[in-house]
Amino acid sequence: MPRYDYLMKPLTVAGLTLKNRLLSAPTSMAELGPDEHYTNENFDYYRLRAAGGAALVTVGDVIVDNATGRSHPQQLGMDDPSVISSLKKMAEAIHAGGAAASVELDHGGALCDPAFLDGRHPIGPSALSEEEWGVAVDEMTEAQIYEVAEAFGRAAAMLKTCGFDMVMIHCGHGWLLHQFISTLTNRRSDQWGGSFENRMRFPLLVVEKVRQAVGRNFPIEIRISGSERVEGGYGIETGIEIAKMLDGKVDLIHVSAGTNTDWYSFVLMHPGVFQKEGENANLAEEIRKHVKTPVVSVGAFTDPDFMEAFLEKGGADAIALGRSLIADPFLPKKIMRHQTEDIRPCLRCGECQGGMMAHHCMRCTVNPLIGREKEVFHPVPVHHTGKIMIVGGGPAGMQAALTAVERGHQAVLYEARERLGGALKFADGVDFKASMKRYREFLIAQVEKSDVIVHTGVRVDEAIIREEAPDALILALGAKPLILPVPGIHNSNVLIGADLTEESVLGNQVVVIGGGLVGCEQALHIARDGHQVVILEMQEDLATDCVVTHRENLMHQLNCCDRIQILTGARCTEITDTGVKVDRGGKEETITADTVVLAAGMKADSEQVNQLRTIIPQTYVIGDCNQAGKIMRAVRDAYDAVVDFGLF
Ligand SMILES: Cc1cc2nc3c(=O)[nH]c(=O)nc-3n(C[C@H](O)[C@H](O)[C@H](O)COP(=O)(O)O)c2cc1C
Ligand code: SF4
Repeated sequence: MPRYDYLMKPLTVAGLTLKNRLLSAPTSMAELGPDEHYTNENFDYYRLRAAGGAALVTVGDVIVDNATGRSHPQQLGMDDPSVISSLKKMAEAIHAGGAAASVELDHGGALCDPAFLDGRHPIGPSALSEEEWGVAVDEMTEAQIYEVAEAFGRAAAMLKTCGFDMVMIHCGHGWLLHQFISTLTNRRSDQWGGSFENRMRFPLLVVEKVRQAVGRNFPIEIRISGSERVEGGYGIETGIEIAKMLDGKVDLIHVSAGTNTDWYSFVLMHPGVFQKEGENANLAEEIRKHVKTPVVSVGAFTDPDFMEAFLEKGGADAIALGRSLIADPFLPKKIMRHQTEDIRPCLRCGECQGGMMAHHCMRCTVNPLIGREKEVFHPVPVHHTGKIMIVGGGPAGMQAALTAVERGHQAVLYEARERLGGALKFADGVDFKASMKRYREFLIAQVEKSDVIVHTGVRVDEAIIREEAPDALILALGAKPLILPVPGIHNSNVLIGADLTEESVLGNQVVVIGGGLVGCEQALHIARDGHQVVILEMQEDLATDCVVTHRENLMHQLNCCDRIQILTGARCTEITDTGVKVDRGGKEETITADTVVLAAGMKADSEQVNQLRTIIPQTYVIGDCNQAGKIMRAVRDAYDAVVDFGLF
């Protein structure tokens, strides 16, 4: 059994002992209350991160100066005294979960939206024109520089009064302090710009003001970008110099990466499926060689063995986890109890953050309790139990079966294929689907060790349902590929994208019909496998059905792959033995292809659903067989159906 001695070892900073080396990275709130204070949902979200065993829970960014510093609407304004009770309750909630509590202090600077500034221009180290930046930015006066630094100090003092154990200063990700350090945004020629020492003057002033406010025995953590990871931006050499300047003045140096001023850099800050485990770990590792202050690493840590090995080799003193604790807040406790096979893995799909950005609503693909964390502390009651039969062994079916047995029901799970997994089976052999494969194996392992009765290789019909005679039936049958009504669609050179496996044989020239998420991912995989690929898409844009960060990531990978050609505004009119005929704006073109892969979308399998849905009065149709969509929807449907069954 692997031991996790390094991860579980306490760490003492400025007199505060953290019980282990796993910290909850700041993740901001999806929404605040109407009075811009924290809500009970916010308290539950952070309490859960603490209850899962993280040693320190840091609340996502709050703003030190409402008038000039707001970058998005979900930020508490620290210069509003009415937030004190909200902050006190937040510290209590985190302490109730057994963790030390901290808050990240921030100022958005030039990245603030005038909509949150009563129409005033954002302020930053240097004036920026609307043409260059999107909005006009005013250069901060010396008086403003001192005012904002004082505001950081006052905010830190307030946190201490409210019962927090630590404070984090945000000096990375492209926000105001970072803007002063970066030559991309700081063009001043006075004592606050020019040389590196001058560009560090403002962040150091902020640290000084915060230290004066909280005293020597109150830990200060500073979050920096160890590299901007953008063309023209600073790299690790500057990251090391930043850390050296801060060394000894703060108690933890937290090394993240990237800047919000560039989309792909933002992606690397929140590494997705195309980035490696511990994507930015090398930055902390390099910095740690040059400073005495303990160093924290963050970014795409999902594998406990990798984390343990990273600490063991001296890569960092602690690891901060953002999304891994959304996917499974109990990850630290599961490591502590050597139950790592029970950790629900984060897919790095970006849906949590994408949802926040699109509609102020954070949900998680794999964890149906995100967004209703209170159900962990106050579970929805089960008023009656019974036998639930689930048809379909994909993610929705497996989640339904697991939720059913957890809630005291009897669960019988049927799958037509020989193995559970459903749509997740296509993760095999695709390097950027490794996390999806882990998720599938996690679900299968959980089902196998649970009391769920599983029948694989059985196609369910009415007779089987009548024989099982369940109290409730859950249909989780998945979706079917959309078959385009074009001549030649049934030719032998046409493969259905959803059916591709490692064994599928493709010719050298491949045309993928459909530039949605699935088509683009398949095109990328096929091209990386050595084939020449043309993506045909009727719309003008690709992958519009995809969450924004994953889309940026995917487009970057497609653009970097010289074996891929993209044709948008192209409608397939016929498939021949040698290629595909397309209509582009009324002009017919022929594209040569040895193999055509159809990825034109999926549709609910209504035929089988209609055959089975009227046999048992209490029948739930969930996931893709209700409406083809994302795994998140299917997993939440599954949880909801089982909870609903037990209610009455
Ligand atoms: C939903 C969400 C909200 C976040 N909010 C913040 C924030 O308020 N402040 C911050 O510095 N970073 C924020 N981050 C970035 C995380 O702290 C972390 O650096 C990043 O997600 C990479 O770590 P991970 O791979 O463990 O998720 C957020 C990330 C996510 C996914
Ligand atoms: S939504 Fe995706 S990226 Fe976010 S925590 Fe869940 S699995 Fe991870």
